Amino acid sequence: MSHPHKIAFKIFLVYVIIGVAWIIVTDQFSIGIAYKSLQDYFLFQRTKGWFYIFITGIILYIMIYKRTAHLIQSQNELLEKEHQLQRSNQHYQSLFYHNPDGVFELDREGKVIAANPQGEKIIGIPFQYFQSKTVTEFISKRDLTKCRKYFQEVLTGSAKKFELHIKDFNQKNKIVRVTLLPIIIDDEIIGLFAIARDITNYRREEELMISSEKMSAIGHLAAAVAHEVRNPLTSLRGFIQLMKDTNTLNPSYLEIMLSEVDRINLIASEMLILGKKQEVHYKQEDLKEIVKQVLVLMEAQANMVNAELTIHEESDGPIWINGDRNQLKQVFINLIRNSLEAIKEKGSIDILLKKQDQYAYAIIKDNGIGMNKERLKHIREPFFSTKENGTGLGLAVCYKIIERHDGAIEFESMPHVGTTVHIRLPLYKEPRQRS
Ligand SMILES: Nc1ncnc2c1ncn2[C@@H]1O[C@H](COP(=O)(O)OP(=O)(O)O)[C@@H](O)[C@H]1O
Ligand SMILES: [Mg+2]
Repeated sequence: MSHPHKIAFKIFLVYVIIGVAWIIVTDQFSIGIAYKSLQDYFLFQRTKGWFYIFITGIILYIMIYKRTAHLIQSQNELLEKEHQLQRSNQHYQSLFYHNPDGVFELDREGKVIAANPQGEKIIGIPFQYFQSKTVTEFISKRDLTKCRKYFQEVLTGSAKKFELHIKDFNQKNKIVRVTLLPIIIDDEIIGLFAIARDITNYRREEELMISSEKMSAIGHLAAAVAHEVRNPLTSLRGFIQLMKDTNTLNPSYLEIMLSEVDRINLIASEMLILGKKQEVHYKQEDLKEIVKQVLVLMEAQANMVNAELTIHEESDGPIWINGDRNQLKQVFINLIRNSLEAIKEKGSIDILLKKQDQYAYAIIKDNGIGMNKERLKHIREPFFSTKENGTGLGLAVCYKIIERHDGAIEFESMPHVGTTVHIRLPLYKEPRQRS
């Protein structure tokens, strides 16, 4: 029986029971009175109706009062709840519409159900034109697999944060930082929220800083490299002169001359590769090879200050990592250069390369002037430099590049003893294992 029926039936039942009980009791009573006094009997007959009305009136009053009080109270509670709901809805709407990040609501298939004004800006057209379209339409091919994988993970309940290359409606390439969150209603994941921030300009500026810092590092290297190239040239010239004067061809001279030419070639090509403006490209690289190539150029600078540069290999064979060769070279050039600049006399720089667990390590240790704790706190800030002609960008760039490689860089230093830099990079994983 429905609730209103129940209430009405209860009132009806109470009314009938009281009525029947009243009739039975008063009839019985009036018979008793009639035996004693007819006058009392008539008086009783005349007043019992009034009594009845009065008593049932009171009972009905109590019952209806209780019911309506309860009804009004629950109606007020309902209104309050509705009000609260409206307020929280407005909260949500504010978060959605006034968010400086793009917010997209997606269903489980990745179709766009709603987007805020900033989201429209990222996609490049009003929402009505991409409503119900699948987000993959805007994601660049190289990020599709990664994105699908994350999407599936979020559908199991975990949030994910990552960077994504997209092509907007006008075919413009953009880089966005995305957070994916599950939308959980009644314990069920009905879709996702994608919160996206356009970091294209930020990335461009960062790229500019890295490449201009690189050019200044190369400029600095040039003098030392030119010097380094002059030495073999001098010896080449000597041998040629000797052979010309004696008019003989000495095979052992030729051997030395060839190796000198090779060295010049190696230094020049390293310099050329470094100077080239190349797209950032992450691929499988050998950390050992990268460091050795850097040493070809840095040895020239070390020689100028009479410092000794030594590599120690703690693990056999290549150390595979996933990285951008040129950017990593830039890191080692900056660090070794700092060490060389910190060295006073009898300088030595030791570079230890090893792999351990899931990581590759490069540890660069110098016996230079070192740093106190206060200085250590500031070295990663851009433009922090204690050198007369320093730019203070070297380490800022190193941090940026290592961060992009999902690695870590840490400094350990003691004044007058030296500085040790620890670099940690994740080892390369076969694509099969990655998925
Ligand atoms: N190996 C080191 N030994 C001592 N001090 C260092 C070393 N590496 C970095 N520093 C300190 O950190 C500062 C910032 O370095 P960096 O960002 O490369 O800028 P710059 O070399 O142009 O000064 C340096 O000015 C120096 O004071
Ligand atoms: Mg520096």
